[in-house]
Amino acid sequence: MARSVLGVLAFLLSFYYQIPAQLAVGLTGNASFRLRPPNDTLCAHLIRPAGYHCSEHTVQTKDGYLLALQRVSSSRAGDMKEQRGPPVLLQHGLFMGGDVWFLDSSEQSLGFILADNGFDVWVGNVRGTRWSHGHICLSEKDKEFWDWSWQELALYDLTDMICYINSITNTKIFVVGHSQGTIMSLAAFTQPDVVEMVEAAALLSPISYLEHITAPFVLRMVNMHLDQMILAMGIHQLNFRSEWGVNLLDSICDGHVDCNDLLNTITGKNCCFNNSRVDFYLEYVPHPSSSKNLRHLFQMIRKGTFSKYDYGLFKNLKLYGQPKPPVFDLGHIPKSLPLWMAYGGSDDLADVMDVQHTLKELQCKPELLYLESYGHVDFVLSVNAKKDLYDHMILFFRSWGKSSSF
Ligand SMILES: *[C@@H]1O[C@H](CO)[C@@H](O)[C@H](O)[C@H]1NC(C)=O
Ligand SMILES: *[C@@H]1O[C@H](CO)[C@@H](O)[C@H](O)[C@H]1NC(C)=O
Ligand SMILES: *[C@@H]1O[C@H](CO)[C@@H](O)[C@H](O)[C@H]1NC(C)=O
Repeated sequence: MARSVLGVLAFLLSFYYQIPAQLAVGLTGNASFRLRPPNDTLCAHLIRPAGYHCSEHTVQTKDGYLLALQRVSSSRAGDMKEQRGPPVLLQHGLFMGGDVWFLDSSEQSLGFILADNGFDVWVGNVRGTRWSHGHICLSEKDKEFWDWSWQELALYDLTDMICYINSITNTKIFVVGHSQGTIMSLAAFTQPDVVEMVEAAALLSPISYLEHITAPFVLRMVNMHLDQMILAMGIHQLNFRSEWGVNLLDSICDGHVDCNDLLNTITGKNCCFNNSRVDFYLEYVPHPSSSKNLRHLFQMIRKGTFSKYDYGLFKNLKLYGQPKPPVFDLGHIPKSLPLWMAYGGSDDLADVMDVQHTLKELQCKPELLYLESYGHVDFVLSVNAKKDLYDHMILFFRSWGKSSSF
């Protein structure tokens, strides 16, 4: 183990000392998102070509990030823009973007299926992803641009997107989260003013605790303290599309973890996504995230806590007024908020024991759907997901929706 850690460190150092300028470009690209051509949007790439109405919205967060939200409706349902169905926000997971709800056919992908069922579909995209629009004053090249973890994604990005949709539709909204999207949702729902705007939520691969994570590749990165190494090197953006990112994955795999099947090594064995579409999926995923976010997730794995970011004793005292970061108390999520959760027997990231820990701390009893053969990615990309889980989710939403017209 020690030798391999040195190997990765040597790899990082060699890049750092040889070509820092190229490294910076490789990590961040040099194109500003705001210079993107107008047709390089999620609506233009995946949603309008499939024959759906799609409009682009920009939400400015309290801390100045400009997020893209897409609003999608079905054209099959006729032109009934005046009476849209209930709003539902789709919140993607780590290294993913809003595209993940639209990567298979319109009969298979949740975004299209919800629109065809009359929902007013809103697609969230967090800061740093390909579809987000940057920041009012920071550039992606600034390390401050990447100074956030899922804590900010929950308390700013998700909260501000929910407020925005609520202010436009004047209706309580349904929330669907996957993976990190469920971490964000559960943390945000501990805030009473957020819950007031939410009708009900469906959580796919629900995560709050990460104590029992089994994915060998992830555990290897945790044990070699990759998060600290990367931050110590002054690398703030985590982009596995860059040459640097690809090489880093190689050096972690090198002889220690079977990475022939890298995805399954990270997420657990996925039963049901369409292997012949992998190249197409890879045109969109993975999206970048921040090194600080990785660090926060690794803190959760190491400590078994569901807390704010741990800055160490002194900065914790200064920022939080206490030596340890404050916890997100799942007991603060009101009993009155209807929750539905789907989890998988083959999911190495949302371990069944950790899901049970989450359930024990909630006041309410969520409706549960257990899918023995599902891995982490099946919840968004399984070709059978409609019958296995989306139809159940829609029944759940209908049982809580105020409007009977959908
Ligand atoms: C990006 O880099 C290329 C090549 O180095 C340069 O020609 C271009 O002007 C740069 N664009 C921006 C927006 O900095
Ligand atoms: C956007 O426009 C450019 C130039 O007209 C074209 O080459 C590209 O294929 C278009 N992209 C999409 C997603 O429509
Ligand atoms: C898998 O993807 C291919 C290529 O897009 C498509 O032709 C095929 O119908 C898909 N299979 C299933 C089971 O959806």
